[in-house]
Amino acid sequence: MSAVILYTTKHGTAEKCAGILKEKASLETEFVNLKESPDFDIKPFSTVVLGASVYVEKIQREMSAFCEKNREELLKKKIGLYICSGDTGKAGRGYLKLFGNDVHNHAISKKLFGSEIYWEKMNPIEKLAMRIIKKSKGNSSDLEMTAIDDFVAEMKLK
Ligand SMILES: Cc1cc2nc3c(=O)[nH]c(=O)nc-3n(C[C@H](O)[C@H](O)[C@H](O)COP(=O)(O)O)c2cc1C
Repeated sequence: MSAVILYTTKHGTAEKCAGILKEKASLETEFVNLKESPDFDIKPFSTVVLGASVYVEKIQREMSAFCEKNREELLKKKIGLYICSGDTGKAGRGYLKLFGNDVHNHAISKKLFGSEIYWEKMNPIEKLAMRIIKKSKGNSSDLEMTAIDDFVAEMKLK
C-alpha cells in the first residue's frame, strides 16, 4: 500500500500543504507537481491525494485536465481532495467540486486547507485583484491545521 499526493500551485501554498501531509503520514508517500509531470501514472498507487489552489474561482488547468484524463483510474482508487483558497465557507466547499463531480463524489475526504498570501509573488494584475478583495497589504498564512489533521486521519495516511 502506498500513497501519492498530486498537486498544482501558483505561489506555493498547495505545495507546502503536500509537504505537511507527507511529513504527517506514516504511509509511504510520494508527492508530485502535476505541472512538471502531467502524465504521472497513478496505477501503482492505492491511495491518491489531489490538491490545488483557487484563483478567480478556478483551480489550475493542469489539475482539471489530469482529473478528466484519469477519471476512470481515479474512480478505482481511494482518493482525497484538498483545496487552498481564501474562502473556507460555502464558496470554498463548492471549489472542491472543481476536480469533477464523479471524483468529488468518490472522495473519502475533502477539505479546505486555508490560504497564504505573498504579495511579492503576485504579478501586477493579481495585486490589483487582491487589493479589491483584501484590505490589508501584509502577507498572511491562514492554514487550517485541524482540517489537515482530520484529512490525514480520514485518509488513514497515518
Ligand atoms: C489573484 C488572486 C486571486 C484569488 N482568487 C481566489 C478566489 O477566487 N477564491 C478564493 O477563495 N481564494 C482566492 N485567492 C486566494 C488563493 O487561493 C490563496 O492565496 C492560495 O493560498 C493560493 O495557493 P497557491 O500558493 O498554492 O497558489 C486568490 C489569490 C490571488 C492572489
